[in-house]
Amino acid sequence: MSLITPSHIQLNEEGRLKHFLTTEGLSKPLLTEILDTADSFISTQERSVKTVPLLRGKTVVNLFFENSTRTRSTFELAAKRLSANILNLDIARSATSKGETLMDTLWNLESMYSDMFVVRHADSGAAHFIAQHITPNVAVINAGDGRHAHPTQAMLDMLTIRREKGPFENLTVAIVGDILHSRVARSQIYALKTLGSTDIRVIGPNTLIPKDIESLGVRAFNNMAQGLKGVDVVIMLRLQKERMQAALLPSEAEYYRLFGLSTDKLALANPGAIVMHPGPINRGVEIESAVADGPQSVILKQVSNGIPMRMAVMAMAMGGQNQTRQEEG
Ligand code: NCD
Repeated sequence: MSLITPSHIQLNEEGRLKHFLTTEGLSKPLLTEILDTADSFISTQERSVKTVPLLRGKTVVNLFFENSTRTRSTFELAAKRLSANILNLDIARSATSKGETLMDTLWNLESMYSDMFVVRHADSGAAHFIAQHITPNVAVINAGDGRHAHPTQAMLDMLTIRREKGPFENLTVAIVGDILHSRVARSQIYALKTLGSTDIRVIGPNTLIPKDIESLGVRAFNNMAQGLKGVDVVIMLRLQKERMQAALLPSEAEYYRLFGLSTDKLALANPGAIVMHPGPINRGVEIESAVADGPQSVILKQVSNGIPMRMAVMAMAMGGQNQTRQEEG
């Protein structure tokens, strides 16, 4: 793998996953291995005893500098179901709120013999920065950085698509809404392309579609009727108002009329198309309740798949780390 690809920092000398920061630049065999590993964990999650001993004795620290419900709790459950110890750092009450720098906080946590940091941060590039500045013994998993990447969300979405609809090569996928501010969309596009999808579309108002998006190998549409025609997978996104610096929309009502996924608009896609959303969903803003709760929706399956996917990524990253601190014989 070339050192100029953004992924080189994610892999060890043998090409194994060491950190998981972005889906960009990772190979098809590696993404497929992540999916296969997650698939193998699904059956463990359906048993009454859900834990496996793979990360016994390891310490994982959840570092969420930005709010989260699903991502934070499924990382915590995934760590526990791998038998790791997990520390949820309460950022609001931590010393970063007393002026300590991010790296000082991390070096302190590293000194407590942590093995893995799961990081969510409002700044794009935060997880890469941390991976570059901590000891090689600690694996870093990006749980969402600014509008840059959210690789575990993208991979749990790929797992859901593969289980529900089969091989990526045959699928047409549309990502609808606020592409401009979405780390999820970017990570999904890289993953879908690498896994073999050739017809990937983004749909939204011009103000919410990055100008250079087609350079990623996707087609942009400003119209649901055109964009949804022949689509097998419809991925809806939330309007990321917290990241909007200017008024990019006329009104929520107008947005819903044009781009909200109603039962009528869903009928424009292929029969049997699945409806996805990373959450949190805003009913009546980007999606009609009847669609979110309807038979084509797999939104809650995505949430369930978040646990085996995060177990897979954590187990693989731990396996790719320099194991000098490994205590078990
Ligand atoms: C997404 C995120 O945080 O990027 N949600 C998630 O992780 N489940 C998308 C969003 O916030 O809209």
